[in-house]
Amino acid sequence: MKQHSAQHHLLNWFRANKRDLPWRANRDAYRIWISETMLQQTTTTAVIPFFERFLAKFPQLDLLAAAPEGQVMEAWAGLGYYSRARNLHKAARQLHALGGFPRTYQQLLDLPGFGPYTARAVASLAFGQQVGVVDGNVIRVLSRFTGKNWEWWKPAARNEIQFLADTWAAKLPSHEINQGFMELGRTICTPRSPSCPMCPLRFTCQGLKQGRPESWPLAKPKKQKQIWWWQPEVHMRKGKLGLIRNEKLPFLKGQWLLPGQGRASARAPKKFDYRHSITHYDIFVTVRPKALRLKSHAPTHWVPLEEIQQHVPTSLVLKALRLCAPSARARRVRQQTT
Ligand code: ADE
Repeated sequence: MKQHSAQHHLLNWFRANKRDLPWRANRDAYRIWISETMLQQTTTTAVIPFFERFLAKFPQLDLLAAAPEGQVMEAWAGLGYYSRARNLHKAARQLHALGGFPRTYQQLLDLPGFGPYTARAVASLAFGQQVGVVDGNVIRVLSRFTGKNWEWWKPAARNEIQFLADTWAAKLPSHEINQGFMELGRTICTPRSPSCPMCPLRFTCQGLKQGRPESWPLAKPKKQKQIWWWQPEVHMRKGKLGLIRNEKLPFLKGQWLLPGQGRASARAPKKFDYRHSITHYDIFVTVRPKALRLKSHAPTHWVPLEEIQQHVPTSLVLKALRLCAPSARARRVRQQTT
């Protein structure tokens, strides 16, 4: 069977089996952009409530552009990767100034937070530009389908995969081919136990032919986890929490954090209050008691506890507050954040 028929199989399968997801209601670029940015970090099921809440709060580009950054961060709280929310907000302001979305991925790439994936996804899903998108799902489906041992984390292999994805999206409606790949990767061609008998690409899939489709794609060599010990201090003044801009710790760089000391460590401390992971940082946290506060770490920024999620949405900090915020007001924040 020739490859063009595999493309048609994918297209027909997607048309018949696509899930009814809220960002598929129409081809509005704003909704597609928000959903694609959220979908980069988690599953479709997990994204749905965040997407709906975000869209209820900021239904249009101009409302997102006009919002204060804190409100955007608050709406993003729980999704992680907060630099994405900051870039989303910056890009919204630029797009608003431009009068709307440019229609090609080449132009979209100039906006903050638009990498090759997001730019191509928006250009194709909203405007029909005939370009392929490459994310983890597409890499898995194409590696299995071709049986290629791509070292997909390296630029040369990435270019090859991108070229192939572009070829698939070149002749048929690219918004359906691209979403077909993603949907197939999320529902059938899953990482550990693919449902090959249900797959529209089973007739020409090399991975299936060779008997062990789940052995593709190659596993990316793991970046070694770094252990950190962080001792934050909780300073309260008239219902406000003291924060500093994080210039020293390698995680959450440039963001508002509790003041305190942090250092890299060869092994985990024996005693700690809680543990939190951010990318490849494994952070062990001991909240420093009031009696042991360091003068050199005085807060520079005071935020009402009720607004804390607008400034520090990360649970690395919220967990420290839950542990030691004593007042009734803080208890309310604790309840909001559990
Ligand atoms: N993953 C990322 N974008 C997606 C989409 N539009 N549909 C399904 N899965 C996705």
